[in-house]
Amino acid sequence: MSIDQGTNSTRCILFDHRGRLVSVAQKEHQQHFPRPGWVEHDAVEIWQNLRRVVPEALSDAGVGIGQVAAIGLANQRETTVLWDRRTGAPLGRAIVWQDTRTAPLVEDLRSNPGEEFFLQRCSLPPSTYFSALRIRWLFDHVKDLRQRAVDGEVLFGTMETWLIWNLTGGADGGLHITDATNASRTMLMNIRTLTWDEDLLSFFGVPRSMLPEIRPSAERYGDARALLPGVAITAALGDQQAALFGQTCFSPGEAKCTYGTGSFLLLNTGGDVVRSRHGLLTTVAYKIGDQRPAYALEGSIAVTGALVQWFRDRLGLISSAPEIETLARTVEDNGGCYIVPAFSGLFAPRWRSDARGVIVGLTSYITKGHLARAVLEATGWQTREVVDAMNADSSVSLQQLKVDGGMTADNLLMQFVADVLDVPVVRPLVAETVSLGAAYAAGLAAGYWPDLEVLRRNWHRAAQWMPAMDPALRESEYENWQRAVERSLGWARP
Ligand code: G3P
Repeated sequence: MSIDQGTNSTRCILFDHRGRLVSVAQKEHQQHFPRPGWVEHDAVEIWQNLRRVVPEALSDAGVGIGQVAAIGLANQRETTVLWDRRTGAPLGRAIVWQDTRTAPLVEDLRSNPGEEFFLQRCSLPPSTYFSALRIRWLFDHVKDLRQRAVDGEVLFGTMETWLIWNLTGGADGGLHITDATNASRTMLMNIRTLTWDEDLLSFFGVPRSMLPEIRPSAERYGDARALLPGVAITAALGDQQAALFGQTCFSPGEAKCTYGTGSFLLLNTGGDVVRSRHGLLTTVAYKIGDQRPAYALEGSIAVTGALVQWFRDRLGLISSAPEIETLARTVEDNGGCYIVPAFSGLFAPRWRSDARGVIVGLTSYITKGHLARAVLEATGWQTREVVDAMNADSSVSLQQLKVDGGMTADNLLMQFVADVLDVPVVRPLVAETVSLGAAYAAGLAAGYWPDLEVLRRNWHRAAQWMPAMDPALRESEYENWQRAVERSLGWARP
């Protein structure tokens, strides 16, 4: 059983021995946007959604609790929730990874103590993206919170921590744990030792007592007694690391890109902590039991599918996400229009918290069809920027890109990605790789699957897109995109 607690929804998927999907249940939760740049979730709503989707997936499959071999979790990373250790009640809404309220703090950290202080320890640059800045923000804005945390009354977690705590009993003895992949996104863990870093804790003023214990991504954690008594939780990974695992990118040099709310390209770099010189993050890819950890370089793009959602929900130009392709196909090209969706600033490879979204090239000629094209193309160009950074870092060019996630159902977009990268793009039969990866890790720890080789044999290609764009057109369009990005920089002045 795989539980994927994502930015938009919580899902439960059952997989069989051959890695085939048996049943799916899913429930969306509300997105709260209380102010420009703020994004929040209700952690209790998410826990309640999990309590609904788990029995639904079981009953759809006609499977009893006793037939579940193990549970693996994958989750939206960095999203920060604090709760009362004694009552289990969240202390306010969870602050989501896309939230930019900490932008002024980022500017301060850049000058003092400077980027290098953080890069050396956790290998992340100061950014609104990571959890530690949100804890610090909460301490500075919620009365008595810092003192309550110092007194040991407050617990911190990302979503897997919150859910595992609740699944294993909550205030009545629940486990307070995280895994190394999730901890590697907090800005509080030392990337080499995989332990909480004293310098970072004291810099952010975070008391150790509020932090979960860092565990391997796959090992027996405990019994999910609140929902599935007798079934063990045996894996947890950040969703993007889970997708890397689900794509069976187990060897150094293998990469995948998951197209969801945002898009995340991860390259397995094996046991080495590779430092990027071109704006990528170094992150823990997975740690299986007591084996050495595997690391990855990551190009994180904050807004891709979220732009389609915005187009649907806020502008109302389409009524369902797949319609974006139909609308985009009503025109031949973008008509000279480009959209830079810097809603949360720009992540990799630029890391500019001061960027905000822009639409450029508008003339009376532009129709909603051109805008739809520009929406899809924004995902392609952002992918190109992180692939360029990855190629520059690794000195070996990417030969093909393995993709997955909801947006890969869009053929126009996938063709565009192949065109702008100038490499083949391939999608596996099971495109639910986040869930599959969590299930694989859980199944390995529980002995349901014997080793990685068996998992590799489950990977089958379902679709492939070959590059077909004229090289001169590709380069001139890329140049236009970059000019559009220049316009977005510096728009949000603190
Ligand atoms: O780092 C954020 C990422 O984990 C969110 O992924 O798929 O929930 O948008 P997703």
